[in-house]
Amino acid sequence: MIPSHAEYKKDISYYNIFHEIMRKTMKNEKTSNLRDMILDETFDIEPDEIRKIGYHTTDLIVDYFKNIHTRPILPEKTLEQMRELLNEPLPQIEQTPRVVLDECKKKIIENAVLVGHPRFLGWILASGTAIGAFADGIASALNQNVAISGVGMATATEMLVIDWIKEILGYDSKAGGILVSGGSIANLISLTIARNVKAQYDIATHGIKQDNNMVIYASEEVHMCIPKAVNILGIGTNNIRWIKVNDNYRLDILDLEFKIAEDKKKGKHPFAVVATAGTVNTGAIDPLESIADVCQKHNLWFHVDAAYGGFAALSPKLKPLLNGISRADSIALDPHKWLFIPFEAGCVLVKNPFFMTQTFTTKTDYIHADSTKIPLSDDVDYSEYGIQLSRGFRALKIWMSLKQYGVEKYGRIIEQNTNLARYMAELIEESPDFNIMFPVNLSIVCFRYVPKDINKKYKSRQKKKIEEYLNHLNKAIVQALRADRRAYVSSTILEDKFVLRACIVNHRTTKKDIVDIIGIIRELAITEDDAIRNKFL
Ligand SMILES: Cc1ncc(COP(=O)(O)O)c(C=O)c1O
Repeated sequence: MIPSHAEYKKDISYYNIFHEIMRKTMKNEKTSNLRDMILDETFDIEPDEIRKIGYHTTDLIVDYFKNIHTRPILPEKTLEQMRELLNEPLPQIEQTPRVVLDECKKKIIENAVLVGHPRFLGWILASGTAIGAFADGIASALNQNVAISGVGMATATEMLVIDWIKEILGYDSKAGGILVSGGSIANLISLTIARNVKAQYDIATHGIKQDNNMVIYASEEVHMCIPKAVNILGIGTNNIRWIKVNDNYRLDILDLEFKIAEDKKKGKHPFAVVATAGTVNTGAIDPLESIADVCQKHNLWFHVDAAYGGFAALSPKLKPLLNGISRADSIALDPHKWLFIPFEAGCVLVKNPFFMTQTFTTKTDYIHADSTKIPLSDDVDYSEYGIQLSRGFRALKIWMSLKQYGVEKYGRIIEQNTNLARYMAELIEESPDFNIMFPVNLSIVCFRYVPKDINKKYKSRQKKKIEEYLNHLNKAIVQALRADRRAYVSSTILEDKFVLRACIVNHRTTKKDIVDIIGIIRELAITEDDAIRNKFL
């Protein structure tokens, strides 16, 4: 039925081929009438059937939240076993929604990682809200594409949510903003704008020139999405100047000044500084006011990656830690972190909204001809503020969560997370067998297990060997935690030390959970130490 290459070459237009295929199809099916062929089939089902999907889905979600405290945090199965469980041929025929939902429960829900479990403190993954989950359902039912002018209410909701986020941070009310999938894209969008605004030529048209000499500054503790963005933007990661951090893992302002001066002497073109408000490793907040001063002095774009720490501004007590953020040219935020919005929800704010549309507007007839616009709406077209054209209705879950809980409760929960982190650090400091790595910043606690007897027993041995063993032991503890499944913390490396890293971005975690987590880690650590020490020391 598909035309051969020769036939294809003979045919002057794709249009002819298409009609030939359709004609042959009809002939094969012995149908002469096109109208008879069209059955007016849809995917719709009766309202009662939809209701049943809703009730059953609600039961699944309610059970998930109800049992989240008691189930094992991690699934027992490996990825390979999960793929095996799901493995089946491409479905050919219909089945009832009930069958699909039952299978979803058995195979997918029951094998999910319980990110919202009160003892899950791995990475900076927040615990979500029930209303956020249902908001996603409503957003999907409405199926809005929040881009092209014309979706009105969804656009208005996003505009309001962006206004609220600016107010939370104390940022310029006239700033532009857009919701995106997460912090990585928020940083990419911000740095794209920074690059285009600060390039000394029309970089959007002419592209990166070999001799454009652009250099960007970020601390050694910056999130890996920054080098990724610099790579994507064609600036090249060799043109990131890595600024030293001080004892508290904050960017060293003198080193920043020094490196900018050095680059200027060499004829380079410094164009931006990335500060972090809440580093991923340790929760440190860079000295934002001082960095803003340096950027002002050298006419550099001041970008703040506040993906993790930005919403600390919801707590009146913590907000002063972010002093200086209002001077940023752009800010990347993650409502799916400390605003507890279910994935995905990131946000970009840019002080001068014109820079956003200048960077991202690409006029096309099929979008921008007036005739394609739905009247009634002459509002913001979000496709001109970022990368995506088709965009989901992310604002709804943020709007609903903020309305349900209000900023006061949000502030209390965020403060509770920071207090739990300090409490955890206190318990660790009081323990003879754990070492804390640094005073807590925001809600990250880095620590490691150091067996009580290790320094005394092996005093005569080289320190290096003990350090190697401690790295190995703490790695083994993380693996044991994964297998044990009662609690979860992640890990990182600080000054060549492998350390455990608890990130408390979880509204369900209580004081008791913190005590239990330390107890579980100690129990597993003792077993691991007994099992492996002889092989190393
Ligand atoms: C400081 C910081 N920036 C950026 C990101 C990346 O955000 P996302 O994972 O939403 O892309 C993270 C993620 O943890 C982060 O902590």
